[in-house]
Amino acid sequence: MKKIALTGIKPTGIPHLGNLLGAIKPALKLSEKYDARYFIADYHALNSIKDPEILTEYTMEVAAAWLACGLDPEKVLFYRQSDIPEVFELSTMLMCFAAKGRMNGAHAYKAAVAANLEKKKDADKGINMGLFTYPVLMAADILLFDADKVPVGPDQLQHLEITAEIARAVNFNYKKELLKIPAPLTTDKTLNVYGTDGRKMSKSYNNTIPLFAPAKKLRKKIMRIVTNSQSVEAPKDPENCNIFALYRLFAAPEEQEELAARYRKGGMGWGYAKEELFRVLDRELSPYRERYCKLMQDKKQITAALEQGAVRAGKIAARKLDYLRRAAGFAK
Ligand code: TRP
Repeated sequence: MKKIALTGIKPTGIPHLGNLLGAIKPALKLSEKYDARYFIADYHALNSIKDPEILTEYTMEVAAAWLACGLDPEKVLFYRQSDIPEVFELSTMLMCFAAKGRMNGAHAYKAAVAANLEKKKDADKGINMGLFTYPVLMAADILLFDADKVPVGPDQLQHLEITAEIARAVNFNYKKELLKIPAPLTTDKTLNVYGTDGRKMSKSYNNTIPLFAPAKKLRKKIMRIVTNSQSVEAPKDPENCNIFALYRLFAAPEEQEELAARYRKGGMGWGYAKEELFRVLDRELSPYRERYCKLMQDKKQITAALEQGAVRAGKIAARKLDYLRRAAGFAK
């Protein structure tokens, strides 16, 4: 039997190059060896997105993005968290095993409190219970599906620790291994994708290159990459260049050698390097872009994939929750 890999994808806008290389591709690779269960964490997004149309739109976008990048819903169990009510019942059960003191120290809540205090406001101003109990809902996502491995970014490790603590508390109480203790699988930290300003590519830095932007917009973004003021004649160092760092992630080895040689020789302006980066990125991204646009034009295919996922995931969830209900004394 294959081990189970599970992860949640928060619908918070169209993915960028960093998401493709840091999250989507590694997760799809992982699904070759694992029984993969990847879901859209739309209830997690409700903490911040209260507009129903935006929430639906973001959910569709992120589902289309993963499908466009190669997720095969026949091979990966792909579903929407909100389609699985068992998650929310388990979350309520787990609340009774989750230490409140631990939630006080959970990083998203702690950061929100710190930001309030910084502005000399009430510590809990604008903070809802969804944010406070975020780690418990995440634990329910994971434990309901018996995940062995949970691929996440480094910012989620604390939530995984909390998940394991809650699972141990449940198992200890009922003197039975009811819940599987999951292990995090941190995404490759050596893979740094740099944004247009040379810092790590991140929405919060506003330096991203969108995955599915039309060619014209993609070119515009690339033209805005920050460079130094070396003259055209000056020999340049490919190892120390924002343009080349991105080029390397997508160009073929011969292309990389050729451009690197041009850098070193001198007589090449930044404009040339940017055009070359655009050529390669456009070539590599256009198949994704085409699939994405097609999926978004007629959302039937996306909806069908998610509905089919909900049926399959629902069966697994119902069985597990039934087992837990009996263990807790809610059912015979
Ligand atoms: N909290 C995760 C994030 O912000 C998303 C998420 C929700 C998740 N539930 C999960 C990730 C379960 C892994 C497993 O990115």
